Amino acid sequence: MKFSLALVTLVTVASGFPVIDTANEAVLRKAAKLASRTVEIIEAENAQNAKRPVKRASLPLPKDALGISRAETNCGPTLPCLAFDAEDQFVSVEGEYAYAAPSESQIRGPCPGLNAAANHGYLPRSGVASIEETVRGMSKLYNMGIDLAAALAAYAVVIDGDLLDGTWSIGGPQQSDPLVPILGNGQGLSYSHNSYEGDGSIGRLDAYTNKGDAHSLSIEKFEAVYAVGGNDTSEEGYDQRYTIDKFRSRFQDVQDHSIATNPYYFTGAFSTVVVVPAAYNFVINFMSNHSEEHPAGYLDGYNFKQFFGVTGSPGNFVWNKGQERVPKNWYRRPSSSPYNLADVFADVGIGYLAYPETLKIGGNTGTVNSFTGVDVSDITGGVLNAAKLFEGDNFACFAFNLLQQGIPHFLKGPLADINNATSFLAPFLSPLLGKLTCPELGNFDQSLFNDFPGHKYSPTGPATNY
Ligand code: HEM
Ligand SMILES: *[C@@H]1O[C@H](CO)[C@@H](O)[C@H](O)[C@H]1NC(C)=O
Ligand SMILES: *[C@@H]1O[C@H](CO)[C@@H](O)[C@H](O)[C@H]1NC(C)=O
Ligand SMILES: *[C@@H]1O[C@H](CO)[C@@H](O)[C@H](O)[C@H]1NC(C)=O
Repeated sequence: MKFSLALVTLVTVASGFPVIDTANEAVLRKAAKLASRTVEIIEAENAQNAKRPVKRASLPLPKDALGISRAETNCGPTLPCLAFDAEDQFVSVEGEYAYAAPSESQIRGPCPGLNAAANHGYLPRSGVASIEETVRGMSKLYNMGIDLAAALAAYAVVIDGDLLDGTWSIGGPQQSDPLVPILGNGQGLSYSHNSYEGDGSIGRLDAYTNKGDAHSLSIEKFEAVYAVGGNDTSEEGYDQRYTIDKFRSRFQDVQDHSIATNPYYFTGAFSTVVVVPAAYNFVINFMSNHSEEHPAGYLDGYNFKQFFGVTGSPGNFVWNKGQERVPKNWYRRPSSSPYNLADVFADVGIGYLAYPETLKIGGNTGTVNSFTGVDVSDITGGVLNAAKLFEGDNFACFAFNLLQQGIPHFLKGPLADINNATSFLAPFLSPLLGKLTCPELGNFDQSLFNDFPGHKYSPTGPATNY
């Protein structure tokens, strides 16, 4: 599980060793100075560990996951954001990157980060992208790690896109040639319920409670998450401040609300165990603005609203569908600190350790407030249980297993095609998977989820751009 890897890096920083080998002396010295408060806290917490030879799998679990969560900056769990470099971090919204609202035929969907990228030409404005276009665009606009962008895009191609031409849609179905067979559901992210999109999202409603629409922003939900950033009710919202810990706590409230209102609430898939909480974390790690005073980034209400396509002030917010924007004069994460696949697992893992109630695997059984959990040991052939889940690399191993085990369930088509899909994905996951020490988790029977009607609920959309 990547949390331990995160500790390794943080401990390494804390003990004064350079973490970026391409950086020069001056940058490293500045880096040490700017090392986030997280590092100091970890240093205090793990003074013992820092003295030991650092071996990932053998690090003990952090005693104070909540403290670590509260101290984490907006830059992520591993590399601190070293320094502010205006030239490196400035993001153009002019010329070829000028904002334009999507036309009728251009696709937008459930992800504000992708919608904003497409509205500014960092992704194809059509809303349909190849893996290479995704990697280039995500890197340029957000400094998303190449391994992460490639894995996210490859999974989208396989599970909801078009494996034959290697593209995927950020929203609804592509207007594809009907003669071209589509292995995945071909419905794009908007209708990827459980395979990619999941319940308990930060701003979208659960698919079942909104007639299959899990891609439109709910203003009520946005009001609630906006409020966790403070009490600035002005239209600008400059005094609001969002941190990853506030969002982790918010995730717990959203889950409770879903359990109390959605009879089909289901959380037994890679989408709900990893993608949904990761999306909360992406707001902090990718949408924050950076400055000399705040090299690790800060997120205020103004930037939050711009990226989410929201205008107005608390109580009167309006979602402007398809109008997600990259703010003018916005500075992304520094090139020296990409947010990688390992960071995703570290951040999601820290969240589950800090807020153990949020790790729920199971679902409602057809009525509200009927949440029933599935035993982790049943899904892992008895190898893992709730306690062992966060030892060593186990959490990331478990998550990858959930992902791979889900593929045959979500893909239609003969076994040979499914095997091809799995092998297509493998090289994109191996940069991280290859570094993990995983126990043999084996296959599990998807019928374990039979009691949960939400597991099979699979709305498909109209063939439109939304
Ligand atoms: C290749 C890149 C990406 C892919 C494939 C992707 C995919 C997705 C998917 C499938 C969802 C739905 C998850 C759910 O049900 O909550 C989602 C939601 C979300 N994504 Fe992305 N995403 C990507 C990049 C980003 C980036 C760069 C950001 C931030 C700048 C971001 C921010 C979000 C947020 C905030 C949500 C939740 C929206 C809401 O509930 O209102 N994503 N994304
Ligand atoms: C907002 O104000 C209320 C009451 O004045 C206070 O209890 C709460 O902590 C404040 N919220 C934030 C996020 O600062
Ligand atoms: C980002 O921070 C810089 C430096 O403080 C500031 O000039 C700029 O206005 C901010 N941008 C946004 C979109 O908040
Ligand atoms: C699987 O992939 C191989 C090699 O890429 C290809 O030759 C073969 O036709 C594919 N099989 C199916 C059933 O798609």
